[in-house]
Amino acid sequence: MVHNGIEYGDMQMICEAYHIMKEALGLSADELSDIFTEWNKGELDSYLIEITRDILKFKDTDGSPLVDHIKDTAGQKGTGKWTVIDALDNGMPVTLIGEAVFARCLSSIKKERVNASKLLGGPASSKYTGDKKKFIHDVSKALYASKIISYAQGFMLMREAAAKYNWKLNNAGIALMWRGGCIIRSVFLGDIKTAYTKNPTLENLLFDPFFTKAVSEAADGWRNVVAQAALLGIPAPALSSALAFFDGYRHAVLPANLLQAQRDYFGAHTYQRLEDDTWVHTNWTGRGGNTASTTYSA
Ligand code: 3PG
Repeated sequence: MVHNGIEYGDMQMICEAYHIMKEALGLSADELSDIFTEWNKGELDSYLIEITRDILKFKDTDGSPLVDHIKDTAGQKGTGKWTVIDALDNGMPVTLIGEAVFARCLSSIKKERVNASKLLGGPASSKYTGDKKKFIHDVSKALYASKIISYAQGFMLMREAAAKYNWKLNNAGIALMWRGGCIIRSVFLGDIKTAYTKNPTLENLLFDPFFTKAVSEAADGWRNVVAQAALLGIPAPALSSALAFFDGYRHAVLPANLLQAQRDYFGAHTYQRLEDDTWVHTNWTGRGGNTASTTYSA
């Protein structure tokens, strides 16, 4: 199930890279195919990049790219959705696969999107005017870094399930299995296998020195692509939610202190004091009583 969820994420990220380069840079299907050919020789080397290269080169009977004749409504049989439901049930932030599932849902309401396209405006131009070559490199880095986040999230979900169901998971073995004939097979899974072989109890893939360094080296390009996509009005839900996760994950302090205060203010849900973890309720308004709500957690 998690393999298929990750597959949804990989496919969505590739589609976003394609969309950004097609719309912002005005590249043809042949030019895009050449870029995927190059990407398939490096850190992004994978079955899905390889078939994207071939799909973009494939011509219809009239000689035009077949991909341009395919209706932009994605189907799904539900394994991605199942992964996301399970992530919600286990309280794990598997955000990238979630965005990939919702992106398929958004694509499938084509009639409504066509109506929206006539009513809702975007930026004056969706063309990128900076250095094209550098931007293409940045897109590859955004794809690579987001892929690391997606796999880290997938392993977080499996870690949680393992703790809940008392499973002993061999993460290196799982990465190795996903290299053999699976749709997400890639060179990258070899690096994951190495990380978990070196440290079978690795808390998070992002803590392995190889991936810590890879994400940090990709960060500038990744941020540029997400920022440009927002400025140019090109949707990049997977690439941008991966960055949002990364920035949230690396923050020791998040604004949930304010959220807890809001919950306590309107619902007497109590909050924990930072100093000693004690649970308290504050009478914020001076009105009403001091009764705290009973605790229950979803
Ligand atoms: C597959 O064919 O690998 C999976 O079943 C995914 O199919 P889906 O994209 O139709 O959900």
